[in-house]
Amino acid sequence: MKSFYVTTPIYYVNDVPHIGHSYTTIAADVLGRFWRACGRDVRFLTGTDEHGIKIVKAAAEKQTTPRELADSVHVQFKELWRQLDISNDDFIRTTEPRHEKRVQRIVADMAARDEVYKGKYEGWYDEGQEEYVTESAAREQEFKSAINGRPLVRYSEENWFFRLAKWVPALIKHTEADPRFIQPDARRNEVLSKLKLGVEDLCISRNVAKLPWGIAMPNDPQHVIYVWVDALSNYLTACGLPEIGDEFDRRAEKYWPADVHLIGKDILWFHAVYWPCILLALGRPLPRCVYAHGWWTSEGKKMSKTLGNFISREVIAEICDQYSPDAFRYFLLRAMTFGQDGDFSRDMFKQRYNVELANGVGNLLSRTTNMVDKYFDGLLPAPGEAEPRDDHVRKVAADLAGSVVGLMEALEFHAYLEKIAALTAATNKYIDDTAPFKLAKDPAQKPRLATVLYNCAEALRLILIHLCPVMPSAGRAGLEQLGWPWPQGKTLIELGNWGLLPAGAKTTKGQALFPRKE
Ligand code: MSP
Repeated sequence: MKSFYVTTPIYYVNDVPHIGHSYTTIAADVLGRFWRACGRDVRFLTGTDEHGIKIVKAAAEKQTTPRELADSVHVQFKELWRQLDISNDDFIRTTEPRHEKRVQRIVADMAARDEVYKGKYEGWYDEGQEEYVTESAAREQEFKSAINGRPLVRYSEENWFFRLAKWVPALIKHTEADPRFIQPDARRNEVLSKLKLGVEDLCISRNVAKLPWGIAMPNDPQHVIYVWVDALSNYLTACGLPEIGDEFDRRAEKYWPADVHLIGKDILWFHAVYWPCILLALGRPLPRCVYAHGWWTSEGKKMSKTLGNFISREVIAEICDQYSPDAFRYFLLRAMTFGQDGDFSRDMFKQRYNVELANGVGNLLSRTTNMVDKYFDGLLPAPGEAEPRDDHVRKVAADLAGSVVGLMEALEFHAYLEKIAALTAATNKYIDDTAPFKLAKDPAQKPRLATVLYNCAEALRLILIHLCPVMPSAGRAGLEQLGWPWPQGKTLIELGNWGLLPAGAKTTKGQALFPRKE
């Protein structure tokens, strides 16, 4: 089966990790885990973006050096990913030699292909975004950053430019021909209309006197490489491309082009325009999909430290302690339609947790294992004759197993979890309707009781195997209670068929998977 390469943005080290970073990383992790479970050879990359003016300024504010800041903050990202059970295969830092040297090679290759030239640049610069703003856009924005409202700064420099404009027609053609390239559709349309308004060449260097914290331009030590060219290149350099004669050469080459670059909507232009044009200029294949997700607000407002609604790494750790990392992962993907904005609120979290996890999956598992324990000594009975009443659960289960691949291909995490919730609700209702506790009172109904409990356990198995990519610990723990650990070497697709749970499996009344929260 085809390999699968998924990336997150590399995160700035000027600030500590928060829910926004966690969101993209969890989504990428779920994709990685899902496709691994389907037998694909997965490469999952994340990392930190450590150069540029933002980092210099943050370091100065904290009275430290950019390097020290990067060294300490990147560890916080790694630590949070460990706590959130993130299964990345690599973590790239843009200050690593393997990256720095390759970025220089990339720019040297661009120069060799006559894709860069030296010119004079004078213009408005958004220091927060590390981006020049055109005169008309600057005027429209009243000479303030469209993102953070801070005044734009006037820069005048002799700089290196990339012939971006030259590649725009090819990019438009590609974006129009391949609807999957930029997703969701609304974002793709935005990019296309902006592209059609015309795009200027891209200034890709900064004067080293103003900004010493960056990768030197090859053949021009007076300049460092623009941080976005540096950062975007990570997706390629982490694959050991281009070759530079070190031990990382071509290490993960087979994964390029990336299957998905997962990003937030604020950095779409860089990924949908600059990055593909650089790749076109280098003659390298383009990523298959750039997917821009929405933003989280918190308790109904834009997240801010002053408002006290900031969901920092500490707040995430507290939520994980109170519930579990799995519950946090579940909520982020379930509560918001991927691609749209959404709101994080503690009340909503608790409510969803109690309804879908504690009363839903958790309750279904404890009811089922309790009854198998009580009526069949903890050994799963073989099912007897099926009755029409049993059809519905099996239909909902088949619908789940039959749709997961398509949903994950489309990155519809919310719909994926919705299908799991639907099977859970249908199975809990099946217990209410078939009333196994009543059947148990009549010895003549024993075969029927066996069928009902087998069906519940089998539905649960399907619920749990599909939950595994989102909730790796709870999924595994639940399967163990069913007496059915994931069989080695079997794929999620093979395991999605009904009826694989063997009669005689030893179930256990284990700890509540999702204890109810008051
Ligand atoms: N360093 C650049 C990315 C370079 S990738 C080649 C960067 N870093 S960042 O740390 O500022 O942001 C990383 C991601 O966090 C972005 O995708 C952004 O959309 C996301 N989020 C930041 N706040 C967010 C929310 N409140 N909600 C959801 N995601 C948000 O940009």
